[in-house]
Amino acid sequence: MTSPHATAVAHPNLALIKYWGKRDHDLVLPCTGSLSLTLDVFPTRTSVRLDPELTNDRLILNEEEVTGNALERVRSFLDIVRERSGQAAYAHVESRNSVPTGAGLASSASGFAALATAASSAYGLPTDSTALSRLARRGSGSACRSVIADLAVWHAGDGEGHAADATSYAEQVPGPRLAMVIAVVSAAQKSISSRVAMKLTAESSPFFDGWVSGTTADLDDMQTALTAGDYTRVGELTESNALRMHAAINGTRPAIRYLAPTSVALFDAAAELREDGLEVYATADAGPNVAILCREDDLERTRAAFAVRFPDLDLIAARSGPGAYLTEGE
Ligand code: PMV
Repeated sequence: MTSPHATAVAHPNLALIKYWGKRDHDLVLPCTGSLSLTLDVFPTRTSVRLDPELTNDRLILNEEEVTGNALERVRSFLDIVRERSGQAAYAHVESRNSVPTGAGLASSASGFAALATAASSAYGLPTDSTALSRLARRGSGSACRSVIADLAVWHAGDGEGHAADATSYAEQVPGPRLAMVIAVVSAAQKSISSRVAMKLTAESSPFFDGWVSGTTADLDDMQTALTAGDYTRVGELTESNALRMHAAINGTRPAIRYLAPTSVALFDAAAELREDGLEVYATADAGPNVAILCREDDLERTRAAFAVRFPDLDLIAARSGPGAYLTEGE
């Protein structure tokens, strides 16, 4: 008899309205809702195979056995799956990631979305998108959005504890056809992880409360703009919300700064191109890389405009992508 196993694929997402700050660290409940675009590039493919002979989980990442913190994170995630499923077996987890790990290109989002999907199937847990999104959230908050295709809103969840856990998941929202050009300023591992930095921001940045109230309002406005197909408003909110997140982060003491000089130059270039009639907007996660938001029809033009201005940068054109899905093979 073959042991239970499953394989899943998931893609990274980039937030238009950012998630930055948790109100419950164990349950990974965010201080605000957020909203993102799942991309069609850099898929992660993950297989989970239960093995009653194992005395611990095993993690193979891009064909190399991984131990230490990365294994610990996967193990505590699978502990949740084991507790819910009543199946105690440890698992072989094999994952292949085509995005530079830890470079602010959301490898943890695609990684935990794929792991939640494969593990739920292998351990016999529900595999509807709400259940998968709630589970993926426990691995990495933003992973709950990578379970969902295209535009996904992640609800902050009602109240606290169990009630909030049950209602904090991502679901698809309608909107105009969007795309992004990702400018890879640096593919190096970021100096401080988003998990640590968001905690420090909440603890020591005097701008954190303003970030939370502003983002709550931005999320409402964004959903209205998306429903109305108001691309200009979508873009303005995207760029401004990202800069507000970085302002809150910069207010941390000792200071944290993710944006590099080239990142700032990319924001300036987006503003210049808007003046010239190409309506693009910039955003950046917890790292120096910048994503340029554009209308899907403008994707090639946008890439070309940035290639002229930044000939040394890798520029990756991405359209909206699928949610996490099960697939064949290990
Ligand atoms: O899910 P995490 O812990 O990797 O946090 C992601 C935080 C940002 O990427 C900076 C913002 C977001 O909403 O994705």
